[in-house]
Amino acid sequence: MPDGELMLLGTQRINDAGHLDIGGCDVVDLAAEFGTPLYVVDEAHLRECCRAYRDSFAARLPKVNICFAGKALITMAVCRLVAQEGLHLEVSSAGELHTALRAAFPPERIVLHGNFKLDEELAMALDSGLSRIVVDSLSELRRLDEMAQGRGANVAIYLRVVPGIKPQTHSYIQTGQVDTKFGLHISTGAAAEGVRLAQEMAGVTLRGLHCHIGSQMFELDSFARAVRIMVEFMAQMRDEFGVTLEELNLGGGLGIAYTPEDAPPAIAELAGVVAEALEQAVAEHDYPMPVLALEPGRSIVGTAGTTLYTVGPVKEIPGVRTYVAVDGGLSDNPRPALYDAQYTALVANRAGEPRTMPVRVAGRHCETDTLIEEVALAPVREGDILAVFSTGAYNYSMASNYNRFPRPAMVLVQDGQADLIVRRESLDDLVRQDIIPERLR
Ligand code: LLP
Repeated sequence: MPDGELMLLGTQRINDAGHLDIGGCDVVDLAAEFGTPLYVVDEAHLRECCRAYRDSFAARLPKVNICFAGKALITMAVCRLVAQEGLHLEVSSAGELHTALRAAFPPERIVLHGNFKLDEELAMALDSGLSRIVVDSLSELRRLDEMAQGRGANVAIYLRVVPGIKPQTHSYIQTGQVDTKFGLHISTGAAAEGVRLAQEMAGVTLRGLHCHIGSQMFELDSFARAVRIMVEFMAQMRDEFGVTLEELNLGGGLGIAYTPEDAPPAIAELAGVVAEALEQAVAEHDYPMPVLALEPGRSIVGTAGTTLYTVGPVKEIPGVRTYVAVDGGLSDNPRPALYDAQYTALVANRAGEPRTMPVRVAGRHCETDTLIEEVALAPVREGDILAVFSTGAYNYSMASNYNRFPRPAMVLVQDGQADLIVRRESLDDLVRQDIIPERLR
């Protein structure tokens, strides 16, 4: 939980040197050793979030399956951590699946998503024996059935269903409403058609239904509404087609604190609301309690990540504001530009000093890449180390090479030990795929 104005989460603390310390590592030392920008991942905090999901849902419901949404942050080391914590893994591309398999993530605990899975991706899923494929359209259902039958296989699937719920969050990350590219809509009859078709198919076995209504949500009622709509639909499917589905996957979506003003519900509160809604809905429809699956991404890794930058020129424009440039920006964190995302920061090498200087933090790309519109910092100077908090989710995973910036390194910190888990890209990495055709030589 945010600590007053200063938002210290997980193992973050201010050490005797007055520096920010994460996982027992002084981040000023980390910046010196690994360079900046640097993504720092707090291992204990990440594991704690995995356990909070596992334990709070297990305490409320008999059969639960927590599946980390890899899109939030996927690297081979993160796959290992998540596997060790006993979670399943959700992937949404061949690249994410390849990362997981290369990290020896057990395939029988991997679920594949995507609104347009390529044949190569479905083939990879079938060949590696994944746990579930989440079918997103009727055409994919037919294609998958054919491919599975061609291999003499039968694959376990969920159907992604659109419940028709518009949660309160940024419109770019709302996905439960009728106007969405994802899934099979209940309202159009496509979802029911999917259930009917799947029953006739020899290549697939429909295990249950999936929905994912949005991301960075604070309001738990949307989850409860999703449960009620999904269970009602499952009961309708039983009545119409005589099929009782054993699993309900509610997707991800729980929000996290990006600034001290954010007060997201705790994971245990989500568990309480979902369990209560599920118990009521199954009782109302006299439906057997399904296995409840969840796919949290942001709320597992978001607050476990911190980005360290080196401060560059500090420009005061009298009567306007002060700009603080850092040695990263849009390429390592596109979220402010994409979603108006808010962040908070701390001068890591003077973490205990009063934060009296309101500034705007800007990146160093060739455009107005504001990272933080306004934050109060300790009087900040060129060469300081700036820590930006809650960057664990959708930062590295959405990073780019814009302006041919090499992507930053990532370190995993725990008990005073820092291990490099993603190498910094080199300038040569940036030209590795470039080709000069013969005629230009
Ligand atoms: N399951 C499915 C099918 C999803 O599409 C997503 C996220 C999740 C689970 C995990 O949701 P989470 O627990 O992380 O909210 N790039 C955006 C977020 C996009 C979310 C996409 N789907 C951002 O930076 O805010």
